[in-house]
Amino acid sequence: MAPPRDRTAWLKGGDSHCVDHGTLPERPYRLLLLGPPGSGKGTQAEMITHRLGTCHLSTGDVFRFAKRAGANSPVMREALEAMQRGDLVTDETVTDIVRDRSQCMMCAHGFLLDGYPRTQSQAQALDGFLHELGARIDAALFLRVDDRLLIDRLTGRRSCPACGAIYHTIFNPSKAGDQCDACGGALVQRGDDRLEAVTRRLEIWRETEAMLFAHYSAAGLAVEVPAEGPPVEVFASLERALAEHLAARDGAAATH
Ligand code: AP5
Repeated sequence: MAPPRDRTAWLKGGDSHCVDHGTLPERPYRLLLLGPPGSGKGTQAEMITHRLGTCHLSTGDVFRFAKRAGANSPVMREALEAMQRGDLVTDETVTDIVRDRSQCMMCAHGFLLDGYPRTQSQAQALDGFLHELGARIDAALFLRVDDRLLIDRLTGRRSCPACGAIYHTIFNPSKAGDQCDACGGALVQRGDDRLEAVTRRLEIWRETEAMLFAHYSAAGLAVEVPAEGPPVEVFASLERALAEHLAARDGAAATH
């Protein structure tokens, strides 16, 4: 099992570097993790990172990190206000942020992009970045969960701002009540987990998911993962679906 990866270069951008720790994986996986808010992207990302050693690159985490760091530029203020309402941050801002961190897609540990891309324009921008870098994605994993479960998951979520661990008041409570089991930090509820913002986020996802699925299906990369069971079951389905996808892809490549 791989230790949690340092994500300094992704979270801070610019000239920041990660402190390299841990051995390199046998092969770097390059994955996208997509799905509605509350489908378990963050939860599964932690498990995938531990198993495959990939770096967890979440665009939502970049904005939350900037907020904690007191970032106050007009662009970041506008982005944080959009987040609070449950709206998407503009494509221009998101694309600038990912461009600034595009070297993370060449990480020798591989990467797991979580919650990006979310629009046609972002999907095209990502295709362009990968093309420029000469990098290819292995799979775009789509977590599938019904809306009625998502609202319960989001309104009960608690997370640790210090280490990023994710809990749920009922489905995955912290043993220490309102403190993080991993680092002792005080657990908080995210500002965009209010019912009004949750409803807006779900609406937006349903408007864009078919387009994203079509984009990655056409590229032979879309993999659907049923994600309504407990996290360990979802992870087992995800691993199985990913292994089948990679075996089919490698088999097809060998016959050409
Ligand atoms: P982001 O941080 O990406 O949030 P999201 O996509 O809305 O997803 P969440 O983090 O809310 O949910 P999740 O799927 O990670 O679920 P989790 O594992 O935490 O984005 C936030 C905002 O940033 C956006 O709204 C937007 O404003 C902006 N943004 C980010 N990227 C952007 C982009 N590319 N373009 C434009 N704007 C962007 O699980 C949820 C809860 O359920 C937890 O409590 C967990 O314990 C529980 N749980 C998880 N799995 C299970 C399970 N299997 N069974 C029971 N409970 C479970």
